[in-house]
Amino acid sequence: MGSVLYDLLALVGYSHPVHPVLVHVPAGMSIGAFCFALLAFLTKQQAYRNTAYQITVLAFVFIFLAIPVGFMDWQRFYGGAWIFEIKMKLALATLYFLLMLTAVVIGRRHHDSPAMLALYFSGMLTVGGLGFFGGQLVYRGFAPEAPAQFKIGRHTFESHCSGCHRRGENIIVPSLPLRNAPQLQNFNDFLNFIRDPKMPDGSPGSMPRFTLDKLSDQEAKQLYDYLYFEFLAQKRPSY
Ligand code: HEC
Repeated sequence: MGSVLYDLLALVGYSHPVHPVLVHVPAGMSIGAFCFALLAFLTKQQAYRNTAYQITVLAFVFIFLAIPVGFMDWQRFYGGAWIFEIKMKLALATLYFLLMLTAVVIGRRHHDSPAMLALYFSGMLTVGGLGFFGGQLVYRGFAPEAPAQFKIGRHTFESHCSGCHRRGENIIVPSLPLRNAPQLQNFNDFLNFIRDPKMPDGSPGSMPRFTLDKLSDQEAKQLYDYLYFEFLAQKRPSY
C-alpha cells in the first residue's frame, strides 16, 4: 500500500518523505491549543476554551494520518532500522496519542477542568520532543561524525554549512562539492573563499559570505580542521 502512495506522488514529481508535511497539523494545533487554553485561563473567556478544544480534536484526527505515514516513511527511507531517534519518536508518539485521546475524551464534558491546561501543555512539550528527534534524524546525517578534537568545527559545519553542503555535497551547484574542493588545500585559501565566495570563473555565485561577525578566524580554523579531516584528508594517497 505504501509503495502505491509513493509511486503516485512520484508521478507529480514528489519524492521526499511525506510525514514532515502532515505532522505540522497536529504539532501546530497542539501549540495553538495550549495558547488558547492559557488565554482562556487568563481572561476567563469561554470562547478561547472552545477553540482550544476544537483544534485539539483536529490535532487528534491528523494523528491517524501522521503516525501511519511516519511509519511508512521509516520503512521506505530508513529501511525500518531501529535507530535511537526512531525509538524516541515511537515512544513520544505513543505518549502524544494517549495525551490527545485523554484531552478529547475529558474535554467533551469538562472543557473548563484545570486538567485540560496540563494536558495541552504536556501535548505541546511532546510535539516539541517529536520535532527535535525528527530534526536529529534528518540533520544529524548531514555532518559526519568525527573524533572529539573536531567537535567544535563539526558543530559549526552543522549550523552554517551542512544545509547546502550535506555530507560534503553541494545541493545548489552539484558540480562544486565541498568534498575535495581545491579551497581545502590550505587554510588561507579556505578563509579567503568563505569570506567572499565566488564561482570558479570569478563571477558571483549563491553561497553566502561568512564575514567576521558571522564566523571568527578561530571558528573558521576549527571548521577548516574538521573539513580537512572529514572531506579531504581521507582522500589523500597514503604514501
Ligand atoms: C546557501 C547555501 C550554501 C551555504 C550555507 C554554504 N555554501 Fe558553500 N557553496 C555554495 C554554492 C552555491 C557554492 C558554489 C560557489 C558559489 O555559488 O559561490 C559553494 C561552494 C563552496 C566551496 C567551493 C567548492 C568548489 O569545489 O569550488 C567551498 C569550499 C564551500 N562552499 C564551503 C562552504 C563552507 C565552509 C560553508 C559554511 C561555513 C558553506 N560553504 C556554506 C552554497 C553554500
